Amino acid sequence: MLRPVFSSPCQPASRKRRGTRCALIGPAVLFALSAACSPTETSPPPVAPSPPSPAAEAAHRAVLVTPPAPRGGPDDARGGRLYDDWRAEKGLKESFLPDPSGTRGLDGKGGPNGNGTLDDGSGRPIPNSGHDYRLKNLFGWDLRGAEGIYGATFQRKSYVLKHNLLTDTRSPEELTAWLARGDEGLPAFGEVLDETDLDDLVAYLMKTREGELARPANIFNLDRRAPKHYVLAAGGDPERGRERYAISCADCHGDDGRNMTIDDTQSLGTLSRSSAYEVWFKMLNGQPGTDMRRQILDRSGTAQEQAILDVLAALCDRSQFPAMNGSSDVRDGDPRCASYLK
Ligand code: HEC
Repeated sequence: MLRPVFSSPCQPASRKRRGTRCALIGPAVLFALSAACSPTETSPPPVAPSPPSPAAEAAHRAVLVTPPAPRGGPDDARGGRLYDDWRAEKGLKESFLPDPSGTRGLDGKGGPNGNGTLDDGSGRPIPNSGHDYRLKNLFGWDLRGAEGIYGATFQRKSYVLKHNLLTDTRSPEELTAWLARGDEGLPAFGEVLDETDLDDLVAYLMKTREGELARPANIFNLDRRAPKHYVLAAGGDPERGRERYAISCADCHGDDGRNMTIDDTQSLGTLSRSSAYEVWFKMLNGQPGTDMRRQILDRSGTAQEQAILDVLAALCDRSQFPAMNGSSDVRDGDPRCASYLK
């Protein structure tokens, strides 16, 4: 039987991790840790390639039901979820409450300063200006920092940092040290992420940068004229996407994407038609702190990009994946779904 990837249907994810939590990492540990962070990965499980011909469909499906490799090295999917929301992924939503962004004082809870802040690279607490100390806010869902979707040319988020993580040429060791220690505007994530976490996170960044994992540039294009400033890329196949959806998503999200209400009002269809630049990331890495793990298990970054684009194209069909009752949807001619909008 074909099953999506999860441990037990729609139950909260197990949060057992190896290693210490919330380790406070000093420079000495940092360098030991850098040395321990090896760029070599475990090889992916042996699976057949997935050409799109009908004859190869069985092999194609085999890819989808191959369980992820057991932990033998960094877990890049978990790294992606930490990038998205480390508090949720580590089960720290209750113990670390970010300094509220609307107030003057530093008045959150938990963390190294006890007030919901993290320090920058020189040890000064960084107030929360709306980023909630999430990497996806500091660098965007497309990892391109100020050059990307959250940058000045596009969504104009005030807290976005200048580093483009996709064109960054630093080694894994250097990235690990930088993220652990922090920098100007960059929280010292070593204050809340342990060695395992940082290894996972850097594995995600390195594999994405090197094209071993899907990259956003082949899934959507940045476009100032479109709402939210993106348009889905050409080359998606909605037919194949529907097939993939049925295998990988429908068990949890329902045949029409309405089993769960997202952000109080959205169906999976409306979210995908209005914010695909976020949905691609969730499909690839999972939803932090929930049972939704990586759903796109194709071996190469290119094959993953194709699969993700196919599903996003399928989700552009408003009658097949409707809005929740009483909620609005994108209008005819909305550019985000490009020619896939139905
Ligand atoms: C094991 C069950 C499961 C499977 C399979 C699954 N999801 Fe999810 N998904 C969830 C759960 C649970 C959530 C969290 C809902 C919440 O936060 O309320 C979620 C959240 C999401 C979100 C994030 C919504 C947000 O809050 O931003 C997106 C997008 C998403 N899923 C898309 C997909 C797609 C596309 C697929 C198939 C490729 C898929 N999911 C497969 C269970 C699943």
